[in-house]
Amino acid sequence: MSTVQDKIETKVGLLIVASLVVVLWGGLAEIVPLFFQTSTTTPVDGLKPYTALQLEGRDIYIREGCVGCHSQMIRPFRAETERYGHYSVAGEFVYDHPFLWGSKRTGPDLARVGGRYSDDWHRAHLNNPRDVVPESIMPNFPWLLKNDLDGSNIQTKMKALRIVGVPYTDEQIKNAPAQLKGKKEIDAVIAYLQSLGTHVKMTR
Ligand code: HEC
Repeated sequence: MSTVQDKIETKVGLLIVASLVVVLWGGLAEIVPLFFQTSTTTPVDGLKPYTALQLEGRDIYIREGCVGCHSQMIRPFRAETERYGHYSVAGEFVYDHPFLWGSKRTGPDLARVGGRYSDDWHRAHLNNPRDVVPESIMPNFPWLLKNDLDGSNIQTKMKALRIVGVPYTDEQIKNAPAQLKGKKEIDAVIAYLQSLGTHVKMTR
């Protein structure tokens, strides 16, 4: 007796092709609608694109691999919302390219860390975390305090983001280099951290 199942399961090539079709179809059915759903494509009220300084800070955050230890995505569980605040919603990330949700939490989630500490606290913490959190295992990033911010590509970056839908105005792009003049890398990282989760006023 030779059923369709027998045929597929005894011919490896056919099995591979059939598996691919199933996985691809499943992927399409799950992922494609997300590009069109209002809840994932519409920014939440009050969401603003990153300023030039915050955007440079975000790029340094990516360069330094902060995302390897910190997620930026609060899940809708009580243990998380009690600790970090309102769970993350898709509309908060519409201007993030790429997303930095992450999946590793060696350190705490940072999705709503903006405003939780002072700029001076962040400066001390990034220089040597143990100066402010004695039991910390986070690495030191002392060069951020010394390095001048290289903002030479900022206008190109903002124009590229505009192509993928971030609504930067010509005015903002024109004024960007002036905003970065004389700044250190640490100023950009702190500006970025202080913005996280603050665009949206959510109550628990
Ligand atoms: C090797 C893992 C690791 C890396 C890489 C790392 N961190 Fe951390 N981070 C931690 C740990 C662990 C803590 C908790 C202890 C502390 O506060 O120092 C922490 C805490 C923090 C906090 C305080 C969060 C809170 O709610 O108290 C901030 C802000 C932070 N990190 C920012 C950064 C930034 C910015 C970078 C990249 C420049 C970075 N971290 C890289 C592990 C890491």
